[in-house]
Amino acid sequence: MKSSASSLFAFLGLCFATSIPPFEKNGTSCTVVPLGNGQDDVPNILAAVNQCGQTAGGRIVLPAPYTYRISQRMTTHLANSTLEIGGTLLFSDNIDYWVNHSYRVDFQNQSSAWRVTGHDYVIDGGPHRGGIDGNGQLWYTWAKGGSNVFGRPIPLHVFQSTRATLRNLSIRQPQFWAVLVDSSSQIALDQFNVNATNHDFSVSPEGGWVQNTDGVDTYRSDYISITNWVYQGGDDVVAFKGNSTNIHVENVTVYGGPGIAFGSLGQYPDRTDIVVNVTVKNVVVQPSSQRVMNSGVYFKSWIGVNYGVPPNGGGGGHGHVRNVTVENIQLKDVQLPVYIDTCLSYLFNENVTQYCDTSTYEFENLHFKNISGNGLATVTDYPGRNISFAVSLLCSEKAPCTDLTFQDINITLPATYTGERVLCQNAEVKGLQCNS
Ligand SMILES: *[C@@H]1O[C@H](CO)[C@@H](O)[C@H](O)[C@H]1NC(C)=O
Ligand SMILES: *[C@@H]1O[C@H](CO)[C@@H](O)[C@H](O)[C@H]1NC(C)=O
Ligand SMILES: *[C@@H]1O[C@H](CO)[C@@H](O)[C@H](O)[C@H]1NC(C)=O
Ligand SMILES: *[C@@H]1O[C@H](CO)[C@@H](O)[C@H](O)[C@H]1NC(C)=O
Ligand SMILES: *[C@@H]1O[C@H](CO)[C@@H](O)[C@H](O)[C@H]1NC(C)=O
Ligand SMILES: *[C@@H]1O[C@H](CO)[C@@H](O)[C@H](O)[C@H]1NC(C)=O
Ligand SMILES: *[C@@H]1O[C@H](CO)[C@@H](O)[C@H](O)[C@H]1NC(C)=O
Ligand SMILES: *[C@@H]1O[C@H](CO)[C@@H](O)[C@H](O)[C@H]1NC(C)=O
Ligand SMILES: *[C@@H]1O[C@H](CO)[C@@H](O)[C@H](O)[C@H]1NC(C)=O
Ligand SMILES: *[C@@H]1O[C@H](CO)[C@@H](O)[C@H](O)[C@H]1NC(C)=O
Ligand SMILES: *[C@@H]1O[C@H](CO)[C@@H](O)[C@H](O)[C@H]1NC(C)=O
Ligand SMILES: *[C@@H]1O[C@H](CO)[C@@H](O)[C@H](O)[C@H]1NC(C)=O
Repeated sequence: MKSSASSLFAFLGLCFATSIPPFEKNGTSCTVVPLGNGQDDVPNILAAVNQCGQTAGGRIVLPAPYTYRISQRMTTHLANSTLEIGGTLLFSDNIDYWVNHSYRVDFQNQSSAWRVTGHDYVIDGGPHRGGIDGNGQLWYTWAKGGSNVFGRPIPLHVFQSTRATLRNLSIRQPQFWAVLVDSSSQIALDQFNVNATNHDFSVSPEGGWVQNTDGVDTYRSDYISITNWVYQGGDDVVAFKGNSTNIHVENVTVYGGPGIAFGSLGQYPDRTDIVVNVTVKNVVVQPSSQRVMNSGVYFKSWIGVNYGVPPNGGGGGHGHVRNVTVENIQLKDVQLPVYIDTCLSYLFNENVTQYCDTSTYEFENLHFKNISGNGLATVTDYPGRNISFAVSLLCSEKAPCTDLTFQDINITLPATYTGERVLCQNAEVKGLQCNS
């Protein structure tokens, strides 16, 4: 019984294989057409990547208007070749599968669904910006507004890659962070649209926004450029985690969330987090219909004491952010335009604020030029203090911030606001009047 059933399946598989080839090869190009009927397209995509993704001039083509089902985790290794995604990679809705089988990321116990490794490759979404549909609504509902809920996978994990360009890509409804660039160097991410919009209003009372829908995070990576992005979502558009060096960010339009994040940093006592040589320019931030704009550019380091465990606890780590230039930032209705917070923990309880001056994580040579627009001065509980402002530089007593310069800063606050505009603590500041 068993053996006849399996030979029947083998026979059907053979018919199937002969009627629909896994991909069509022409010279060094492999074109994949989806199987349809909800079938998993991963085996065919991987077969095409093996055939056409390993040689100079190779191309793997997933054309529009097709939708490809991604029902299992995949690693595509590309060398000297181009992956053209005119169509859409639609990630499956099997939450149990993804939670149990996603790749694990060596940071905050996170997960990823699609890893791209290799060198000298291009991933291009073409003129109509193909890319990814993460089926994120399922995950937004499932996570119930929780922070870093285990198993929500990152749909695009650029891992152990060198000299790659990813461009003209659209990532809709990412499950978690849209992109992670990890252990890679010389990576350009140009012309991206990321949009994480929640339609389940039971998830979050404040307009329905969702946590951890970052645009792109960088980790253990060098020489990364992030240019011409449009982001709408609930969390950071760009976040630099530990060992992000020589990073260039230019032309970013943001609708909602906390904006550009340096951090979080110093979460792990046994890992030094270095963020050096970063330029961020031409950024426009404004609220979306479902999410306020919390900040424009901000820096966050963990408390200096190891309290709780990652992803939401930790602290006591070391390192520095050094040589940062932030210029041409336009703000519209931003709660807290620019700030440094050295008292971070995601365990919001009474035991955290007592550690506010314990961090030894260092910030130095941060330069801000031409920042204009309006702040809302509506934040009243940060962190545990009853204040609001335009610029807040609260550095730790154990590691004062040095060489912070400001030039052409014009942030207007509501006429009715009478509190402090610039708050400094343990910070060496030029170009702004502290505590004024
Ligand atoms: C194969 O590629 C060549 C050169 O690009 C092109 O001229 C030809 O039409 C292609 N053949 C098929 C069957 O697509
Ligand atoms: C792939 O690119 C690398 C770096 O540019 C080059 O050294 C290598 O020769 C290329 N390989 C092929 C097969 O073209
Ligand atoms: C996922 O893991 C959980 C806990 O180990 C288990 O109960 C569940 O059956 C697994 N689901 C799948 C689809 O493997
Ligand atoms: C990651 O999270 C899973 C699920 O909560 C847990 O079983 C596992 O021990 C965690 N791993 C680490 C390294 O924290
Ligand atoms: C992709 O974007 C680049 C600019 O980043 C553009 O020059 C190129 O034409 C685009 N490619 C396609 C196929 O649209
Ligand atoms: C993001 O998606 C939502 C819902 O589809 C849409 O209303 C909004 O305009 C999109 N944002 C951008 C910047 O395209
Ligand atoms: C940024 O945008 C400006 C104006 O559109 C454009 O001239 C410039 O080339 C863009 N920069 C990059 C790195 O694409
Ligand atoms: C960052 O690099 C330094 C060496 O330069 C290393 O000691 C440290 O562990 C790295 N940190 C991370 C998060 O990988
Ligand atoms: C600071 O970083 C910029 C790139 O953002 C680089 O051009 C410059 O040389 C760096 N300065 C120092 C002193 O390292
Ligand atoms: C920062 O940039 C300077 C100048 O280009 C360079 O000498 C230095 O090595 C860079 N630092 C890091 C950590 O890459
Ligand atoms: C705060 O710390 C005290 C003393 O260690 C402990 O009893 C209490 O449970 C802690 N509170 C929370 C919410 O962790
Ligand atoms: C600051 O911005 C306000 C509002 O945009 C504008 O009216 C004012 O002229 C600006 N001040 C300077 C010095 O540029």
